[in-house]
Amino acid sequence: SKQQAPKDQAIDSTLDILREGYLFVQNRCRELQSNIFQTRLLGKEAICISGKEAVKIFYDNEKIERHGSVPKRIQKTLFGENAIQTLDGTKHSHRKDLFLSLMTSKRLDKLKKLTRQEWNESLNKWVNQEKVILFDAVQDLLCRISCKWAGIPLEEAEVKERARDFGNMVDAFGAVGPRHWRGRKARQRSEEWITTLVDQIRRGDLSPSEETPAHVMAFYRDPNGQLLDSQMAAIELINILRPIVAVANYITFEALALHTYPEYLPKLRDDKDLAHSQWFVQEVRRFYPFTPFLGAHVKQDFEWENQRFKQGTMVILDAYGTNHDPVIWESPEQFNPERFKHWESDPYSYIPQGGGDPSLGHRCPGEAATIDIMKVSLDVLVNGMKYDVPEDQDLTVDLVKMPTVPKSGFIIRDIWKKA
Ligand code: HEM
Repeated sequence: SKQQAPKDQAIDSTLDILREGYLFVQNRCRELQSNIFQTRLLGKEAICISGKEAVKIFYDNEKIERHGSVPKRIQKTLFGENAIQTLDGTKHSHRKDLFLSLMTSKRLDKLKKLTRQEWNESLNKWVNQEKVILFDAVQDLLCRISCKWAGIPLEEAEVKERARDFGNMVDAFGAVGPRHWRGRKARQRSEEWITTLVDQIRRGDLSPSEETPAHVMAFYRDPNGQLLDSQMAAIELINILRPIVAVANYITFEALALHTYPEYLPKLRDDKDLAHSQWFVQEVRRFYPFTPFLGAHVKQDFEWENQRFKQGTMVILDAYGTNHDPVIWESPEQFNPERFKHWESDPYSYIPQGGGDPSLGHRCPGEAATIDIMKVSLDVLVNGMKYDVPEDQDLTVDLVKMPTVPKSGFIIRDIWKKA
């Protein structure tokens, strides 16, 4: 007889997710000794899966679809309603091509250049400050970069508020209560701002250059030849601005990694072909928590690992757990950039920003941009500045909170700019 995948004994595990955060799937996979288990989430049947083979299933468009999979509370904070994350088929691929078309090497070079400039200007200010909370300060810096790169005017006086709004949309992901409501407010404010801008661009009152995301998104036509309504265009434009600001989470983890594993500093200081930086950035994205898991549901019945996946069933892919899967990664709980030295890149076993082929599925189109921003930032942290990391701060990374950064936000002081 068929063996079914083990069942999580809880009646509904929604609260356990909030109690266990990043480790929710991994804890149960270990306990049940299985890379698949059944549970109930938000009152519905769900199947949680983890590991390389699970990623292949999750990104198989015949088996899995996204429409109706993103809870409204997440659309109202993190993603925006009815945005690319919720689309399937032609509608999705058409819009996805647009996002991917923004990531040419020329545009990425521009992004790197802006990143370098903004770090330079930020450092000029930080050297006069008693202390800097790196996470917040880097959000501000990235907010300036993202708006400049996207072709969106931003007054220096509004940087902090806009940056906090982008940050708070991301911070709302695993939140109930005040953090959730803060995320909603942030989204409302941001959508109003950017919708007005899209209208101005369409009227010709504002003319960002043609290759900028602001221009491209304002004049994008869907497969039926229609412009997006201006709020929808704003939502998709925010789907570029917000995640650029979210690279602050990874940059803060880069700083934490440098602080925790100073043995890599000499290698990064003398890194002629940038190989060590590449491995370091990859390991930061593997090792530290950002994306916990991804949700979708079954498009049509299928079987996998003796488990029947019934149409409509929710499927949760364990992203964090896959990046820490001992079947894929030797000593996954060790921070070891050099593991990437001989790593044979494949689209299913390393999924900090999703898996599969980005042009065929929902994998992040911003991975190259993320890596570029992280590399420039790492170089500044290592070679462009000096700073102290005061001991009286809490650098704990709480794996229950989603998303998470070191509790203190990583405070630095006595900042020097190297010539
Ligand atoms: C999708 C992570 C940076 C734009 C995603 C997904 C993840 C992710 C996990 C969903 C994958 C899936 O559903 O299968 C991250 C992380 C980032 C980051 C951790 C680092 C901060 C960026 C950047 C951009 C971007 C810099 C754009 C400039 C998008 C868009 C989608 C997406 C538009 C939706 C794609 C789709 O639904 O087809 N990202 N991302 N992300 N990301 Fe990123």
